[in-house]
Amino acid sequence: MKRKIWIDCDPGIDDAVAIAVAIAHREELDILGISSVAGNQTIDRTTGNALKLTSFLGAMDIPVARGSACPLTREVVPAPEVHGATGLGDCRLPETEKKPVPEPGVAYMAKVLLALPEGEQATLVPLGPLTNIALLFRVFPEVKEKIKEICLMGGAAVGGNVTPTGEFNIWQDPEAAKIVYSSGLPIIMCGLDVTQSCGFTREHVRQLKESAQDVARAYGEMEDFSFNKTVYREREVVAVHDAVTITYLLHPEWFEGRKMQVEIDCSEGHNRGMTVCDHRRPPREEDKVLVLLKADVEKVQAFWMEALLGFVS
Ligand code: BDR
Ligand code: CA
Repeated sequence: MKRKIWIDCDPGIDDAVAIAVAIAHREELDILGISSVAGNQTIDRTTGNALKLTSFLGAMDIPVARGSACPLTREVVPAPEVHGATGLGDCRLPETEKKPVPEPGVAYMAKVLLALPEGEQATLVPLGPLTNIALLFRVFPEVKEKIKEICLMGGAAVGGNVTPTGEFNIWQDPEAAKIVYSSGLPIIMCGLDVTQSCGFTREHVRQLKESAQDVARAYGEMEDFSFNKTVYREREVVAVHDAVTITYLLHPEWFEGRKMQVEIDCSEGHNRGMTVCDHRRPPREEDKVLVLLKADVEKVQAFWMEALLGFVS
């Protein structure tokens, strides 16, 4: 049976790659829907990008639900310096007639998950701040029974990217992250420890840009923006954080990690948004978070290239 997934995202260049890799594997993944959240860009832009991406990738049938416009307790702090003014670098995707579903994102997500047949569960794949997932658990706690696990991009066992200890998705909404991490559900944490090394080289980007296919060229353009106009200018590899989640679900054998107790720092101090991972002792039964620590990067890169180059216009 196909694995059922729900993608919650803030596209976002690397979110866009994750969506493409998932859509390239619809024979193995039943994508129940995609919800947008404010993060890399405003909710209008992330929702618009999710609609345009699913249309461009030939997946008009995947419902897109508009999620929260801001984190639980604060205003959103978008990242145009990483993802550009639209969220997708300088890439201009074709306009689409597709509209979001009429219900609020969290209500729609609950409706779809609660309608799963008896005994069936889905995997949540959050790729942005955890606002929608926290609201889902608070408003519809019964939905947890329909969730097998949460495979998310966020946090780090060591270090951060927005602050010395804060990773963007968790830092943007630590209160939401705390609700999700204490939900009792199994979590696979694809954090910076593994996502920083999983990315495209300039050679990969050249191949995408020179493809005869529209999809590969569009993604080449997005990644080119990262290499030319962001912090990645000086680096060899542009991280594609969010796509690690989908890759782990399809190829867990390419990754190593260990279960740890993870707490979220919601203080107002230097470490706000830190995922405090307890390395000190062997994993215990009650540790619910599998923290990924290592990946077979070449296999991951080849998998992503195959997915992107495989979309034929
Ligand atoms: C995360 O932050 C966002 O900018 C990316 O889309 C990714 O989800 C990496 O820290
Ligand atoms: Ca993201």
